[in-house]
Amino acid sequence: MDKIDLRSDTVTWPTSRMRQAMMEAEVGDDVYGEDPTVNELERRAAQKFGKEAGLFVASGTMGNIVSIMAHCGRGERAIMGHSAHTHANEAGNPAVLGGIQPWVVPVQPDGTLLLEDIRAGISSDDPHFPRTTLVCVENTQGAAGGQPLSAAYIERVGKLCREQGLRLHLDGARIFNAAVAEGTDVATLTAPADSITFCLSKGLCAPAGSVIVGSDEFIYKARRIRKLLGGGMRQAGILAAAGLIALEEMTERLSEDHATARAFAEGLAHIPGVEVQPERVKTNMVFLKLHADSRLDGRMLSKKLEEDNIILRPSGVYHFRAVTHYWIKPAHIDFVLERINRYLA
Ligand SMILES: Cc1ncc(COP(=O)(O)O)c(C=O)c1O
Repeated sequence: MDKIDLRSDTVTWPTSRMRQAMMEAEVGDDVYGEDPTVNELERRAAQKFGKEAGLFVASGTMGNIVSIMAHCGRGERAIMGHSAHTHANEAGNPAVLGGIQPWVVPVQPDGTLLLEDIRAGISSDDPHFPRTTLVCVENTQGAAGGQPLSAAYIERVGKLCREQGLRLHLDGARIFNAAVAEGTDVATLTAPADSITFCLSKGLCAPAGSVIVGSDEFIYKARRIRKLLGGGMRQAGILAAAGLIALEEMTERLSEDHATARAFAEGLAHIPGVEVQPERVKTNMVFLKLHADSRLDGRMLSKKLEEDNIILRPSGVYHFRAVTHYWIKPAHIDFVLERINRYLA
């Protein structure tokens, strides 16, 4: 990459291995089920998660809405976190496209939803109330600082869902980061879920695409909804070829990004005027805040850093979220720390 871009892991460029694989990809018409590279990606994704089938989709947002619509009919309720991507950042699509009522519960600082809050959102069988069908959980939880949720927690939510006859969808945009942080594999981490969406295009560096995994029956339904939403792609093997490398090779190295994020947070903690909690950095996200009496506010610091080819955007007046990824190396972090220190000192 030509910049030190810390805005998100979505900014990652594909690796040269990916570009080569894309050039050589075998393709076919995926709407007819004839693209061998897409079929292989879907098969391997399902295998990795211990589920029956997979479905390649254009984006994480598409993976989530296809899954939510496959689980819920019109007028039904889906329980999700107030700051979950499915609620806060997907243009209200459950309501707009699916006629689905989100029931929003607070996301805790550790990224979880309290079981009692979920339980309180489950409607009784009364014609006044929307029927509750689904619970959505995000792992890692982005708005809480990339917090990974443990297999034990997901199992507790899964048990509640089974007892109440509800389905469980995991927005696992960064599920491989969660698995690395929790020291487990994605199949164990997601076993209680009926569906999982994971992204190939974030820390895994593919240029585009996500995969939904679940049962054969669920993926059959999801395939129809993907088509309904205009997500049937044709020679998508070009993208799936990069996705296969993302899935097989890039998941192995995510601990490097976590170490880089932690080093960044620890370095920031030594800079006067910066508030950060390095102990909360468990994956690849660092949330930091400038003191109100700091020499620069967020916008001014961001502008100064841009002159050094460093892209870090404020959210609000003093807050930043920085995300590490494949293209951010330890030497870049040293350089960014040196510059922030220089501008704030
Ligand atoms: C947790 C989470 N879920 C879903 C998405 C949506 O992914 P996409 O941008 O591919 O639609 C994002 C995007 O950043 C995300 O952070």
